[in-house]
Amino acid sequence: MRLFFALWPNDAERTALVNATRAAVEACGGRAVPRENLHLTLAFLGSLPQERLPALLAMAAVVRSTAFALVIDRIEHFRRSRVLAATPSRLPAAASALAAVLRERLLVGGFTPDLKPFRAHLTLSREITRARESAAMDPVRLECAEFALVESRTESSGAIYSVLRSWSLYGAGSA
Ligand code: 2AM
Repeated sequence: MRLFFALWPNDAERTALVNATRAAVEACGGRAVPRENLHLTLAFLGSLPQERLPALLAMAAVVRSTAFALVIDRIEHFRRSRVLAATPSRLPAAASALAAVLRERLLVGGFTPDLKPFRAHLTLSREITRARESAAMDPVRLECAEFALVESRTESSGAIYSVLRSWSLYGAGSA
């Protein structure tokens, strides 16, 4: 199974993200990420044999990190990967701490997380053909009260993501 940990926006947040990014998505000439797939990856694991899933769930269950709010307020064109993404211009310390603790626990647990530096973003469109300078967007506030383990499958219709389980962050509701 192909897995990753992510922040998974709620329905209202998805609507706000789609509305705030529609013009840029249409202008970039790429393949738009469907609304239900929008997410922010915290740690990417790649392929994992199914029998290791219980150990992974046990690892995630003991992650203790605090809830936070993430304000998504920029649209960026990642030229090398030809991706249009929405990003926060300010990353709360709790967000980087959560990404870091997940990576560290994965490594300690003998899993093989992607080791590229954490770059908080939600991919909006892939294989873009027109890149522009980064720009501000109407801010969308994501209340990050939990993190999720997500399975990614590729079907002829594209990527299908399923949340396998999610865990609460501390202080949810007071971030
Ligand atoms: P991306 O949106 O920038 O491509 C599922 O593929 C999620 O994991 C995506 O959010 C993807 O980021 C992210 N991811 C991080 N590292 C990855 C890797 N090495 N391969 C594939 N996806 C990766």
